[in-house]
Amino acid sequence: MKKTYHIVTALIIALTIINACKHEIPEPAAGSPTPIPGGANEVCFQNQILPIFQSNCAKSGCHDAASQNKGYVFDNYVNIIKKGISPGNATNSDVYKVLFETGSKKMPRPPNPDLTPEQKALIGRWINEGAKNTINCGSLCDTTKFKYSADISVLINTYCLGCHAGIAPSGSINLSTYSGVFTVAASGRLVGAVSHAPSYSPMPKNAAKLSVCQITQIRKWVNSGAPNN
Ligand code: HEC
Repeated sequence: MKKTYHIVTALIIALTIINACKHEIPEPAAGSPTPIPGGANEVCFQNQILPIFQSNCAKSGCHDAASQNKGYVFDNYVNIIKKGISPGNATNSDVYKVLFETGSKKMPRPPNPDLTPEQKALIGRWINEGAKNTINCGSLCDTTKFKYSADISVLINTYCLGCHAGIAPSGSINLSTYSGVFTVAASGRLVGAVSHAPSYSPMPKNAAKLSVCQITQIRKWVNSGAPNN
């Protein structure tokens, strides 16, 4: 009799602990601002999505905090998720749909360049995965890898082309082709700008500095002669 009593007591305590633990670490709901570490196969908000929004949409006259065109601000997670995104449902999300529009509904508007098909697909995947605030997905960067096609151009596509492509690229610097990137690499302006060296304009403009790992990749590629590899 006493034994049964002890077993039941132990069970109740165990269940209480399990429940308490569940309560302590709630799974953040879709759209929750709580940052969570990105899973291995998930799109990473911090590294892959935020820079696309910042460089293509959060521009002066468009969707930066001062302009707020149509109430949309695309400068950080909380603002990005506020409007036009249905977590888990890209095709029902206006922010995703306008990327495929034509004419006056199309975003970004000319003379700003279109997003690439890869960038559109990435945003769609991120929304379908729950539009989560995934951060610290550090495994995506590796300083031993610094090939132009696989690493450098991918980085530039994500962080720079929103301003440095299309018919009127910022500073007349077009980074959408290898020769455009090579020119600023060879002149020292690429490393100067991304490492925020004195006397260069800090890049990416109006966004966080690239990570130490990313700057190292660019520096190594430039130091190896900035090859088209
Ligand atoms: C939001 C727009 C924007 C983004 C994003 C951006 N740039 Fe720029 N960039 C500019 C503008 C505008 C200039 C002209 C100088 C200025 O106004 O600061 C410029 C100038 C430069 C220069 C010349 C700097 C100098 O002092 O000679 C380089 C190099 C450059 N950008 C590289 C980059 C790279 C690489 C990235 C991505 C990592 C990037 N930019 C992202 C807007 C942007």
